Parts: sequence; C-alpha cells; structure tokens
Amino acid sequence: MVDRVRSRHNTIRRLFNYANNPITITGFIVTTVSALTIIIFMIAELSGGFSNPYVGIFAYLILPALFVLGLIIMPIGMWRRRKKLLATGASLEELAVYPRLDFNDPHLRKIGMTVLLLTAVNAIILGSTSYLAVDEMDTVSFCGTTCHTVMQPEYTAYQQSPHSRVRCVQCHIGPGASWFVRSKLDGLRQVWKTAWGTYHRPIETPIHNLRPARETCEQCHWPMKHHGDKLKVFATFDTDEHNTASYTAMLIKTGGGSLDLGRHGGIHWWHIYSDNKIMYYAADKHRQKIVWVELTTPDGQVRTYTRKSDKLPPIAEIKAKARVMDCIDCHNRPTHLFKKPDHALDDVLAAHPDMQQLPFFKKIALDAINKGYKTHEGGMTAVQRAVLTYYQQKYPAVWSASEKLVRRAADAASRVYGRSYFPAMKTDWKTHPDNLGHRDFPGCWRCHDDEMSTADGKHTIPQDCDTCHIFLEEDSPKPPVFQDLMAQQ
Ligand code: HEC
Ligand code: HEC
Ligand code: HEC
Ligand code: HEC
Ligand code: HEC
Repeated sequence: MVDRVRSRHNTIRRLFNYANNPITITGFIVTTVSALTIIIFMIAELSGGFSNPYVGIFAYLILPALFVLGLIIMPIGMWRRRKKLLATGASLEELAVYPRLDFNDPHLRKIGMTVLLLTAVNAIILGSTSYLAVDEMDTVSFCGTTCHTVMQPEYTAYQQSPHSRVRCVQCHIGPGASWFVRSKLDGLRQVWKTAWGTYHRPIETPIHNLRPARETCEQCHWPMKHHGDKLKVFATFDTDEHNTASYTAMLIKTGGGSLDLGRHGGIHWWHIYSDNKIMYYAADKHRQKIVWVELTTPDGQVRTYTRKSDKLPPIAEIKAKARVMDCIDCHNRPTHLFKKPDHALDDVLAAHPDMQQLPFFKKIALDAINKGYKTHEGGMTAVQRAVLTYYQQKYPAVWSASEKLVRRAADAASRVYGRSYFPAMKTDWKTHPDNLGHRDFPGCWRCHDDEMSTADGKHTIPQDCDTCHIFLEEDSPKPPVFQDLMAQQ
C-alpha cells in the first residue's frame, strides 16, 4: 500500500522533472495564454457581443488551435527530456526528484517574478495585436486589394456603388459565428487557389454559399418598410452627330409592407415577404433559365407554374434544388455592377450636358471602349487617347475652342472602360448578368414572360407592361418637366 503511494508520488515527481525543458515550458505558456485569451473573449462576447465577424474566427478557431498545439508539444518535450536523462544514466529514482524551487532565494524570486510579468504582458500583447489583426482583415482594403488582380473587378465596381461605405464582410459574412467559420473555411480554399493561380476567371457567380441574403441585407434595409413607387428617369443618347437624347420616365412599383401592417403590395411584397413565398428551379448554373416556379399564397394555396415548351427534370430533383427567392435573386448586382458601356455613357452624358455638344462623342467613345484590349490599364489609356486624337484630327475647331471639355470627356470615357472590362480576370459586363429589370438580360422576364402558367391555365406570371411600372413619359426628346422641379429642391 505504502509502496503504491510512494510510486504514485514518484511518478508525479518524474513528470515534473521531465517537464523542466524549453519545449514543454513553451507549450505550457502557449496553452495557458490562449486559454486565458479565449476566456477574455468569451466574457467580452457575453457582455455585449462582437459586431466584427472576424473576432469569431480568432476566438473560436485560431485560439483553440493554439491551445491544442501547446497541449501537443508539452508531452513531446517531456518525452525528449526523458530519453536524454535516461541516456545520461540517471536512475528512475533520481528522476523522481522535484526541481527545487526555493523562493527564499532572491535570484529565483526575480526569475519567478519576471516570468509571471512576461506572461501577463504576453497575454495582453497577444490579445490586443490579434484583435488589431482581426480588425485589419475585416477592412475593405484587405478584402479588396490583398489579391489585387483577383478582386479588381468587384472592388472597382464596389467603390462606385451605393454600398461603397458598406464593408465587404457585412454582405459576404454578416454577424454570427457559424457563417463566419463556413466562409473562412471557404476563404482558405480561395487563398490556396490564389496562390496557385487556379481560380476561375471570372470569379464564379452566383456564390453558392452566400448566406440567405435577407439575413445580411436586412441588417440595414428594414424588410417591412413600404417603399411606395420609385420614380426613375432613363436618359438614352443616340450614336449620331448630336448625341440625340431621349427620355423615359416611370414609376416602379417597389411596394413592400405586409398584410398585418395594412399597407402592402408591389414588387417587394409579392416576392419576399412572409405573406408570399416563391421558390424556383433554374436549369442553368447562372440561374438565367428558370423552368419551374412555385408560389405559396397568404391563404396557403400552392400554385406551380411551368412553360409548355420546357423539358423538366424529375420533380424530386426540382424539390431538392429549388431556391427560395430572396433579395439577390433580383438585386444580384447591388454593388458589383459592371455597367454596359452604352448605358454608362448615357449616364455620363445625362450628368454632363456640356458633353452632349461634342459631335459624335457617344459613338467615338463607345467604339473605343468596346474594341478589346489586353490589359485594364492599357485599355484605359487607349480609350482616352482615342477620344483626344479624334477631336484633334477630325474637329480641330472643337479641340481648340474646348480643349478642357474634350479632356474631361476623354477621362470620363476612359473610366467607363475601367468599370466595364477587366481582361486579366476575363470579366466584363456580359459575364455577370444583372437581374433587376429586363434591359440587357432576361431579369424579371425569366419568369414574367407570359408563358409560365399553372397546369389549369388559370394563372400566368404576367408580362403586361403596367404590372411593374407605370410610364409617365416614353421616348420624349426633352427631360420630363418634373425632373427640373426636383432638381430645384
Ligand atoms: C451590398 C452587399 C455587398 C457588399 C458590400 C460586397 N459584396 Fe461582393 N457580392 C455581393 C452579392 C449579392 C454578390 C453576388 C451574389 C450572387 O449572385 O450569387 C457578390 C459577389 C461577389 C464576388 C463574386 C464574383 C461576382 O462578381 O459575382 C466577389 C469576388 C465579391 N463579391 C467580392 C467582394 C469584395 C472584395 C467586397 C468589398 C470590397 C464586396 N464583395 C462587397 C454583395 C456584396
Ligand atoms: C451595412 C448596411 C447595408 C447593408 C448590409 C446592405 N445595404 Fe443596401 N444600402 C445601404 C445604404 C446606406 C444605402 C443608400 C446609399 C445611398 O443612398 O447613397 C443602400 C442602398 C441600397 C439600394 C438602392 C440603390 C440605389 O441605386 O439607389 C439597394 C437596391 C440596396 N441597397 C440593396 C441591398 C441588398 C440587396 C443588400 C444585401 C445583399 C444590401 N443592400 C445590404 C446599406 C446597406
Ligand atoms: C422581385 C425582385 C425583387 C426582390 C426579391 C427584392 N427587390 Fe428590392 N427592388 C426591386 C426593384 C425592381 C426595385 C426598384 C429599383 C430600381 O429599379 O431602381 C427595388 C428597390 C429596392 C430598394 C431601393 C428603394 C428605393 O425606393 O430607392 C431597396 C433598398 C431594396 N430594393 C432592397 C431590397 C431588399 C433588402 C430585398 C430583400 C429583403 C429586396 N430588395 C428584394 C426588386 C426586388
Ligand atoms: C422566380 C420567378 C420570378 C421572378 C424572377 C420575378 N417574379 Fe414577379 N412574380 C412571380 C410570381 C410567381 C408572381 C405571382 C404571379 C401570380 O399572380 O400568379 C409574381 C408577381 C409579381 C408582381 C405582382 C403581379 C400582380 O398580379 O399584381 C409584380 C409587380 C412582380 N412580380 C414584379 C417582378 C419584378 C419587377 C421582377 C424583377 C425584378 C420579378 N417580378 C421577378 C415570380 C417571379
Ligand atoms: C415583371 C416586371 C416588369 C414587366 C412585366 C415589365 N417591366 Fe419594364 N422594367 C421593369 C423594371 C424593374 C425596370 C427598371 C429596371 C432598372 O431600374 O434598371 C424596367 C424598365 C423598363 C424600361 C426602361 C429601361 C429600358 O429597358 O430602356 C423600359 C423601356 C421598359 N421597362 C419597358 C417595358 C415594356 C414595354 C414592358 C411590357 C412589354 C415592360 N417593361 C414590362 C420591370 C418590368
């Protein structure tokens, strides 16, 4: 009995002795510090939560990994020291001696205090620098520029979008730990692909693992808000000598609201609010060819719409892959919109009436932009030069009278190119269809083509022009009068 107790004591002492080596001590420090930091993070999380999604990956992924790493290297150090000691001929009895720690010894006391102090300092440093590192990863410039070429198209479009002050992670990750971890695991795969250059050009869309958009978009856009109708004026310009203008004004029935709130209807209410639920199945990867749609109405009726001309896969496959319609099924380019150069030039001309006076400006700029260049920078310079050269050679009078204006117009044309074409990533406005509207891509008409009907033919997804908007002016040569009134406000 006594023997057994003594042998247990000896084992513990031996372990202490083995532990007295740099590797094990390092492991011990790593484990303790990460454990302490995890606890600090947990307390901080409980007392308010983090708004920053990267804190999650650090606190719950990297720190635990360090913690485990420390635990793993501790026994390795002990095993090595044991081997070494035994090799020097030490007996197991000798090894069972505790290292003598006498804190009356001032020298040892000093060392003890220093170790204690350094550990505390370490914990603080590790905690705060890692917090800063996490914060840095969260910034737009980290996401947008670290892999410069890869993200250039999305970053460029983003900088000029209504969301240019929204951080990438707010849409791509959103709050909460689980999506965070998912997206980061995917991020590791992406870093790997970037390092080896095996990523897709263009970067693939749709993003399959983007979390349901409502959870992210609705952090800022209140879902039940009734938007009413949205007034929109489309100004278009011809490619003739006078850049002839034409204006279309319409009220888009954005709507919203809910049955409970009383005020409801319009585009938003019909597709996303809990009152109605729309599921759909697309036959292609880019979700451009929609072949099956199911609507569940507020009173629980389920209607299925299909086209007679479409071949459908088995219903089991449809049910398994059908997607619940959410914000990004219409707003799929809320921030990375690669504008069609034609429309982008219309916007430039609408915003700068003086440029409308430059003969053939739209035609010259459009031809130069759509010509095709090897590099993004090369294209931007070439477009600018093409516009300048044109006026210098063909309209020397315009050039000498309004050189400044021509230069501004050339810069604007060059920027239009810069936003629409990214040769290195094989990305341009055609590779990423915009699903809002039906101007250049099928968009709303993927379903609203008057051909998707229920089997009994009673319901059809309507294409009538006043379903979604009301025209106030159509192809008018002058800007609508109310536009001037609004501008004066
Ligand atoms: C307002 C929300 C929002 C913000 C902010 C945002 N994105 Fe996106 N991003 C999206 C949506 C929506 C998609 C397309 C989703 C789909 O169609 O599946 C997307 C797609 C992408 C893609 C895939 C390629 C493509 O063009 O479809 C990349 C890469 C990307 N974003 C990078 C970024 C970077 C980098 C930032 C910050 C500089 C950023 N995003 C900021 C919403 C956002
Ligand atoms: C962090 C807040 C935030 C998030 C998240 C966010 N938005 Fe926005 N969004 C804004 C703000 C702010 C504006 C207004 C910008 C302005 O008027 O300059 C805006 C504007 C818009 C507009 C109007 C654009 C226009 O041309 O007038 C649309 C559409 C939109 N957001 C859709 C979305 C969608 C879809 C998502 C999710 C993928 C999303 N937003 C996520 C803050 C956000
Ligand atoms: C069925 C398609 C569709 C869906 C789904 C959809 N929207 Fe919209 N949304 C539109 C259209 C169309 C407009 C009018 C904008 C335009 O043409 O410029 C609009 C306008 C907006 C605007 C600008 C409102 C204004 O008056 O300026 C915001 C913000 C917006 N949507 C956010 C969202 C959010 C957030 C979701 C998801 C919860 C969502 N939308 C889902 C089609 C849709
Ligand atoms: C995935 C298919 C799908 C897409 C894409 C889609 N819708 Fe719809 N939409 C429907 C269905 C289904 C209904 C209900 C049709 C019915 O009444 O039987 C509907 C109804 C509507 C209604 C109400 C019609 C009415 O009877 O008053 C409006 C308005 C509308 N959609 C606008 C839009 C706009 C704008 C877009 C594009 C930004 C769009 N939809 C894209 C499926 C779709
Ligand atoms: C399912 C909804 C829907 C239907 C049906 C619809 N539109 Fe539209 N339309 C839109 C939306 C949304 C926009 C705004 C797009 C944007 O903001 O860029 C739009 C924009 C337009 C524009 C201005 C942009 C452009 O293409 O020059 C015209 C013109 C237009 N629609 C014509 C029509 C005509 C004609 C019909 C009838 C055959 C029709 N629309 C039916 C949703 C619809």
